Amino acid sequence: MEPVIATLGLTKRYRGGQLAVDGLDLVVPRGSVFGFLGPNGSGKTTTIRMLMGLIEPTSGTARVLGEAMPGAGRRVLPRVGALIEGPALYGFLSGRDNLVRFDAADPTADPRTRAARVEGALDRVGLAGAAGKKARAYSLGMKQRLGLASALLRPRELLVLDEPTNGLDPQGMREIRSLVRQLASDGTTVFLSSHLLDEIEQVCTHAAVMAQGRLLTQGTVADLASSVRGRLAVTTPDTADAVRVLKEHGVIDLVVTDDRVTGELPAAGPPDLADVNAALVRADVRVRAFGTQRASLEDAFVALTGEGFDVAG
Ligand SMILES: Nc1ncnc2c1ncn2[C@@H]1O[C@H](COP(=O)(O)OP(=O)(O)OP(=O)(O)O)[C@@H](O)[C@H]1O
Ligand SMILES: [Mg+2]
Repeated sequence: MEPVIATLGLTKRYRGGQLAVDGLDLVVPRGSVFGFLGPNGSGKTTTIRMLMGLIEPTSGTARVLGEAMPGAGRRVLPRVGALIEGPALYGFLSGRDNLVRFDAADPTADPRTRAARVEGALDRVGLAGAAGKKARAYSLGMKQRLGLASALLRPRELLVLDEPTNGLDPQGMREIRSLVRQLASDGTTVFLSSHLLDEIEQVCTHAAVMAQGRLLTQGTVADLASSVRGRLAVTTPDTADAVRVLKEHGVIDLVVTDDRVTGELPAAGPPDLADVNAALVRADVRVRAFGTQRASLEDAFVALTGEGFDVAG
C-alpha cells in the first residue's frame, strides 16, 4: 500500500540562506497517527508547507496521497484537511461565519448542507457555545479550535495539523487528543507536528524526530521507545551497599536519590537481572522494589541527540 506521505531528499533552503529542511526521507503509513516531533526551529512547519504545496522545495520530492506535490495540488488538496500555524481568520466575523466562509470557498461543498457541516465541525471542537462570538475576541486556544474546525468541515483522507494543541489549556489538549483518536478510528490518517514528547507518546502510533532540519529517526512509537533500554532501578534503604553490588555487576552511570539507586545496564554483555537481584540479597541489601523503568520517547530523544528536550513546552 502506498504511503500517504512520502518524501525523498526533501530540502528547503530559504532565500536568506537558512537550510531549514535537509534531505528529508519521510514515510507516513496510511491509517497512522503520525507525530512529527522536533524542537523549535527544527523544520516542521517548513516541511508541512512543502507537503501542502505552499512553498517550493529547493530540491527533492514530496508525494501526498500518491501524487507529486506541489504539481498535483488541485487534485490532492481537496482530500486533505490542514491546520498550519495561525489559521487565517476574519476577526470581524463570528466563529460560525468564518466556517461558513471556509465552506463556501470549497467549490465541491453543497451549499444546502453547509449549515449542518458548520454546526457539526463547531461541535466536534467544542466551540458550539462560543460560535456567535467575533473571532477577534477569541483566545489563542479558541482560534486554534476554530482552525481545526475548518479542517474538519468535510471528511478527509488525511489531516495535517501543525501544532494543533498550541495555546490550549490541559483540558483543551485532552479534548484535541481524543478528537485525533476518534478521527483516526474513522480511518483518517493524521499527521501532526508537536514539540511535546509526551503528547506524541499519548496519541501517536508512529513518529519522526527532527533536529536542525534533519530526520534523526522514524518508526512506530513503541519501537522508538524500546530502542533505548530503560534504567535499572532499585529501591532500598541500603543505597551504599546497593551501589557497590551493582557496580560489581557492570551497571554504569549509577545515581542515588533518597532510597533509590538507578543505573544503566551495559550494552555489551548485560548481566542477568535475576543474578543481580540475588547478589543484592546475598549482600544483605534490603530491596523494596527492583526492576527496569520503561524508556520514554524522551529517553530515546536524549539518546539520539545527547540533548534534553523541552518537555513542558
Ligand atoms: N520564511 C522564512 N525565511 C527564512 N527562514 C525561515 C523562514 N521560515 C522559517 N525559517 C527558518 O527555518 C528554520 C525552520 O523553521 P520552521 O518554522 O520550519 O521550524 P519549526 O520546527 O516549525 O519550529 P516551531 O516549533 O518553532 O514551530 C528556522 O531556523 C527558521 O528560522
Ligand atoms: Mg512550526
